[in-house]
Order: sequence, then structure tokens, then C-alpha cells
Amino acid sequence: MMLKMETYDIYVGHHEIDKLQDYIKNIYNQKDIFIVTDDNVDHLYHDLISHKLSDFNLHFVKIKPGETSKSFETYLETINRLVEKGIKRNHLLIALGGGVVGDLTGFIAATLYRGISFVQVPTTLLSQVDSSIGSKVGIDLDKGKNLVGSFYSPKFVVIDPMFLETLDEREYHQGVAEMIKAGLIANKELYEFFKTNNKVTEKEILMALNVKRDVVIKDPFDHYERMILNFGHTFGHAIEKKYEYKTYKHGEAISYGMMIAIEIGIKKGITPSYIYEDVKKVLENNKLIESPYFTIEALKDYIKTDKKSMADVFYFICLKNIGQSIITNLKVGDLK
Ligand SMILES: NC(=O)c1ccc[n+]([C@@H]2O[C@H](COP(=O)([O-])OP(=O)(O)OC[C@H]3O[C@@H](n4cnc5c(N)ncnc54)[C@H](O)[C@@H]3O)[C@@H](O)[C@H]2O)c1
Repeated sequence: MMLKMETYDIYVGHHEIDKLQDYIKNIYNQKDIFIVTDDNVDHLYHDLISHKLSDFNLHFVKIKPGETSKSFETYLETINRLVEKGIKRNHLLIALGGGVVGDLTGFIAATLYRGISFVQVPTTLLSQVDSSIGSKVGIDLDKGKNLVGSFYSPKFVVIDPMFLETLDEREYHQGVAEMIKAGLIANKELYEFFKTNNKVTEKEILMALNVKRDVVIKDPFDHYERMILNFGHTFGHAIEKKYEYKTYKHGEAISYGMMIAIEIGIKKGITPSYIYEDVKKVLENNKLIESPYFTIEALKDYIKTDKKSMADVFYFICLKNIGQSIITNLKVGDLK
């Protein structure tokens, strides 16, 4: 199955990885390919990728797994290693891994020699349904996540659910959180799927991708419409900040954040009240939240410095119903 973005294609399906070599040959006529991956993914898939791309000379550069690699230090170290290995402006770079590898490699592709071609091969559920599309690439600073970056599109993306078989359960659920979010904001059928807590298939991945695709095409540079993808993120970010990015993973934090956004939506008269218990059950069943839940009061102090906030008033995403969302304004002073 193929999805079209404005300037690149996304190939989705089991065994798509078998076609990676042909997809590359359609856009690239050199022999050398440079692959950035992390130690875990390299350990699991180095041989498979070497086998699938056997017509090319492959040069692997590995980074340490985890968010700490989305740093200026790793960026510099990786770029230096690529240059030492002989990467030239007309060479191709592949990001093979989760969102960390994708964001970092995309940023390298955007900046090395003022831009080189790159391809995304996402290997976590989160990167398959979210980070590998939308063209946001970048790294973190000590002051906050994703503060340095660019909009830079890959030549294409290959999404093969086969990679998910080795993903640990907690990581898998982080992707589920973003899929539930996509369902809640724009696709009821996708949300309902998680009521039975099944293993996601190509079909659900495509539904989640389509939600993101439609929004990104309307607002590629994140000026307004794309904001609905931030449903649950205002308080989710506050939770991550409060616990210094240690206790809760992103998908878990935004799941609690979605519950608070629903609570606020109900108080504002926008969200029907039955939705609270409905979503709570789905998130609990998918191991994303457990009681005790966060109160708005406990997180209030951590949202003031959120990068989306404008003085005292900030944009806030509420559900009008399951599968329907709107952008509203919220005042810090109204948070009671
Ligand atoms: N660019 C965007 O639009 C966007 C959107 C959402 C999130 N993100 C970013 O994505 C990052 C998180 O991505 P992530 O959740 O994929 O994390 P990640 O890249 O850290 O991967 C999670 C863990 O899974 C391991 N792993 C990867 N693939 C595997 C596989 N197939 N089998 C077994 N283990 C595997 C990794 O080594 C790592 O330990 C964050 O930095 C976030 O800011 C970016």
C-alpha cells in the first residue's frame, strides 16, 4: 500500500523491506549508502538489512539507543563519522530505527553539505505512525526537547510492521498512545479498535498515518491546523517536565494529558461527559495509565513555560466527540 505526501511516498506493508533495494534504485544511482542506526536495532537487523541491500556498499554508523542521543554531541560525532567514512553530497543516508534515529538522521541530512538525500525506515510503532512522517527533524537542548531542527522531507518512507515483532511491550504501547490520540481527534474507527486491545496491523497503521497526513498536508510548517496533533500534549509535557523525563514515557504522559484535556473539555461544555470513562478504560486496558490520576492543580506550574503558551493564554485542543477535535483558547487563570 502506498500513501502519497506532497513530495514523497510512504510504502506500508508486510515485506515492504524486501522492496527497499528497488525503491532506492528508482531514486539513486550511486553504489555507497550510509545507514545511521542505534545499537539495539543494529544488533537485531544489521544482517537482514545488509542482505536486503546487497547490491550496495553499505556504511553503518551506530549511536547509543535512547533520547540522550538526540543531542548536539551525538549529532557532531555522527556527522564526523559519516564524513570520515567518505559520505559525499550526492550520497544517500538511511535512518534505520525509532524516532530518535529518525529525528537525528533527518537533521544530519538537512544540514550536512546543506542537505543530502535521506530515506526513513522506522522500526518502532511510534516512529511508524508518527515521527517518520511530517518532515520535522531535530535534536534536543538541555533547556528542552526538539528545540533545534528543521522541516526536511525524506525521499520516501518504508514502513514494515515486521520490525514490531521485536519491540518490547512498553515501547509498543507508546506507539499505541499516539494511535489512540489519532483516533480520538479524527478517526473513531481507529479509536474503537483499541477497545478490544488487539495487536495492530497494517490497517490501523494506515489509519493513523492518514490522520497525520491530512493535517500535515493542510499545515506543513505547523502554523495552526497541525496543532490538533498536540491533543493531550500540554499536560503530557507538564508531566514529563515534572518528573524530569524519567518516570513516564512520552505516550504514558500524553495519555494522562488526554484525560485532563477531556476533563477540561467537559468543564468548558465542549466534550460530552461520557467520553471520560470511555477513554479512561481504553487507556487503562492498553497499559498507558493507572490510578491515581493527575490533577490539573498538580501540573499547573509546569505548563506556563510550555513552548506553545503565549503569555497567559494558550491554544488547547478539545474533543467535540470521539473522532472530532477543535482548537480552543485556554487561560492559565481558568485552570481550576
Ligand atoms: N519528528 C516528529 O514529528 C516526531 C513525532 C513524535 C515523536 N518524535 C520523537 O521520537 C522520539 C521517540 O521515538 P521512539 O519512541 O521510536 O524511541 P526510540 O527511537 O528511542 O526507540 C525506542 C527503543 O526501541 C528500540 N528499538 C527500535 N526499534 C526496535 C525494534 N524493531 N525492535 C526492538 N527494539 C527497537 C530502540 O533501540 C530504543 O531503545 C522522541 O525523540 C520524540 O521527540 C518525533
